[in-house]
This record gives sequence, C-alpha cells and structure tokens, in this order.
Amino acid sequence: MDRLIIRGGIPLRGEVEAAGAKNAALPEMVASLLTGESIQLHRVPQLGDVKTTIGLLSHLGVSVERRDRETLFLRADRISRFEAPYQLVKTMRASVLVLGPLLARFGRARVSLPGGCAIGTRPINLHLAALEKMGATVSLDAGYVEAKAPRLRGARITFDGQTVTGTENLMMAATLADGVTVLENAACEPEVADLAALLIRMGARIEGVGTPTISIEGVDHLHGAEHEVIPDRVETGTFMVVAAITGGDVTINRCVPCHLEAITEKLQETGVIVEETDWSIRVCGDGRVQGINIRTHPYPGFATDMQAQFMALMAIAQGSSVITETVFENRFMHVNELLRMGADIKVIGTTAFVQGVPMLSGAPVMATDLRASASLVLAGLAAQGITTVSRVYHLDRGYESIEQKLLGLGANIERVTE
Ligand code: EPZ
Repeated sequence: MDRLIIRGGIPLRGEVEAAGAKNAALPEMVASLLTGESIQLHRVPQLGDVKTTIGLLSHLGVSVERRDRETLFLRADRISRFEAPYQLVKTMRASVLVLGPLLARFGRARVSLPGGCAIGTRPINLHLAALEKMGATVSLDAGYVEAKAPRLRGARITFDGQTVTGTENLMMAATLADGVTVLENAACEPEVADLAALLIRMGARIEGVGTPTISIEGVDHLHGAEHEVIPDRVETGTFMVVAAITGGDVTINRCVPCHLEAITEKLQETGVIVEETDWSIRVCGDGRVQGINIRTHPYPGFATDMQAQFMALMAIAQGSSVITETVFENRFMHVNELLRMGADIKVIGTTAFVQGVPMLSGAPVMATDLRASASLVLAGLAAQGITTVSRVYHLDRGYESIEQKLLGLGANIERVTE
C-alpha cells in the first residue's frame, strides 16, 4: 500500500486544472448499458473508481477502450452477464447504478447489496422501492438483489429522502420504460444534471433537470452519443482549501464556479479572498482564517463531500466552529486522526465542535475513506513537521495524481510505495 510523506508549512502557490467529475463519470459510463451503440466520453479522470467501473462493465460484456488520457469508448452490444458481483460492489457502492439500466434494457439484474462503508450503512432501499413502483419484482437472495421486469412502466415516484445515485438509477431506468415517470424530491446535484444531458444526447426525453421534480418519457431505444464530463467540484473545492489552509494563492482552471457557491460563500466568511471568472476560481489565504459554522446539506447546500476538508481548515482557525453533518451518519472518521496532529475537536452525535489551534503537528495518520484522506493531506500541508498518510488508495479513488498537482504548487510531498 502507498503512503504520502508531507513536510508542511509551505504556502502553496500556482495554478491547477480541475479533472472530470468522478461522480458524473461513473453514472455516465454505466449509461452505456442503455444502448448497443457507441458512447464516447471525454474528460474521464484516471481514478480508482473509474478503473473499478471499467472492470464491472467489462464483466457484464461492455467493450471499454481508453483512447487517450481522458477519452473512453464504451459499447454494450454484446452483454453476456447481468450480475454485479460482491467482490466488485463491496469496493465501490456506485456499482448499484447498473441496476436501473440492466432492468430497463434487458429486464433482469442481479446486484450484490453494497454493504456499509466507513461513512455509513449506505442502504439502497429508496432505489428498490422506486423500481418496484415501476413494476419490477425485487427479491433479496444471499446478499444479492434479484430484480426482474418484462418491461418497466412509468410511475410517479416520491423519494422519502434525497438520494443522488437513487435519482440517477431511476432516471436511467425510466428512459426505456413504457410511459412517463415523474421523480419527486429528486437530487439536484450537478452530476445528476450532467448524466441527464448525456441521456438526452442519447435520445432520452427528460424535463425538469436540476430541479426536485424530473419527468422522463420512456422511448423504445436510445442511440450512441458523445459527451464531455463536467469538472469535479469536490476536487476544485479541495484545492480551494489547499490555498486557504497553507496561506497560499491557488487558481483552479477549467472548473465551474457556480457549482461551488456554498463552498465559496463559507470560505469568504472565514476571511479568505475568492476571485472568479467563468471557468476559474482563485483563492488567496493570507494569515489565519476565522472559525465559522457549517451544516452539510444536499445541493445547492454545503456539500457533505467537502465537510472533512473544511474541518481540517477549521482545526487551525482563529476561534471555534460547529460542523454539523446531516447527510451521512458516520462521516467524522477523520477526527481521530486530526486529534493525533494536535487538533482540538469534540464530536457529539453528528456535530463536531472545533476549537482552532495556532498550529498542527505532523504525525503518522491513516486514511479511512476518500474525503477523510483528503482532509489529512490538507492538515499535513499546514502542519509543522512531517505527516505520513497511509492507505492512500482511499485518496486515489477520487483524486487524479493529487501529489503531482500539489508538487506543481510547491508542496514538499512524496509518494512511497510499500
Ligand atoms: C452520492 O452517494 C455520491 N457518490 C457521494 O460521494 C456523496 O457523498 C453523496 O451522493 C451525497 O452527496 C456518487 O455519486 C457515486 P445518497 P450516494 O444516496 O448516492 C441515504 C464521494 O466522496 N440513503 O445521496 O450513495 C444514505 O444512507 C462520495 O465522492 C438511504 O437511506 O448518496 C445517505 O444517508 C461519498 N437509502 C443519504 O441517503 C437509499 O436508498 C444520501 O445518500 C439511498 C440513500
């Protein structure tokens, strides 16, 4: 397993470019199951989760070809299996996204229940209840979901809770259903809208994209398409915090600033300077930031995927902050590791009370999940001394060559392969 060794205390300065969004690329790769024609995706990041999704789709019979660094060609004209096996699903919960497309196009799917992960139990009850409303028969067998449907039929579905991949699963399923499906309380994340943009390019009939009410009129078949994945707003937000936590000056190019409004507002509240153009964000952190309160919320609220990164910043802020996690039940795995670096954080339920300290101290720490590992890298960049982050495979799931980008900003960081 790889480790990152970071010597902190250096203000990072320069420019980086946002990669394609992991959480848009994954469902868009899976959307290739909805047609036998070729899907061409540009700006697909080189990430652990993308590799896992390529493995899963290949297992099903999709031909996947990476033509250059960022372009994938996918073609599902010879699907031979309809099962997403446990050994693949357990490493990446997003594998459950194959459920809707397989059911819609082939009338059958057998997908391992994802099981929990570090940040929560991660059930898929909302996905399954909605598919049953569309006429699927769903049963559980030895840890697998067995689903069958001669042809899905349009339905009005109100999600009990907002679910990003649940919305994506049902939107894909509904594109080939018989009749109109209306999704109420649908997720409004930009990644959902980007998936819808691809589906519309493939011939799907979708309205209400980006709002909590999405309607999809089923068609008989979808055709091939070409699409560019939107920039990754969480990677962009992470590099915004890089500038703030090191007191540096970083510009993130080829991003979409309007996808990060809640993050930008909160960073400005801490005293950090943020300048935007249509396609870039520049963040200048001079001196110690002020502690502020944040509460995570589905988009357009403060993204739960930015909570851990923000906590690292609040750990060295002037004053105190209250961080409330409302989306996942256990997304504070980074706290214990930050405490080892000298942070002053108390967790009660899903709220963390942070008392800013003047400086963190470098230490050996362990990554537990994707965004927690980003939080530890950020803390290491700001800390005095050397921080070693182990189990960085968590980080590699969602950040494309992060140490190269940080080196380009002047960081003293090295990847060591054990
Ligand atoms: C997506 O996960 C993202 N992953 C997550 O990003 C992100 O944190 C999350 O949305 C919230 O924004 C991908 O898009 C691949 P949810 P998802 O369904 O869809 C509960 C990262 O770091 N729920 O919106 O799995 C669930 O337990 C990852 O990039 C049910 O109870 O999240 C959670 O508490 C981490 N039943 C809440 O809803 C269900 O059937 C939101 O989950 C589905 C969800």
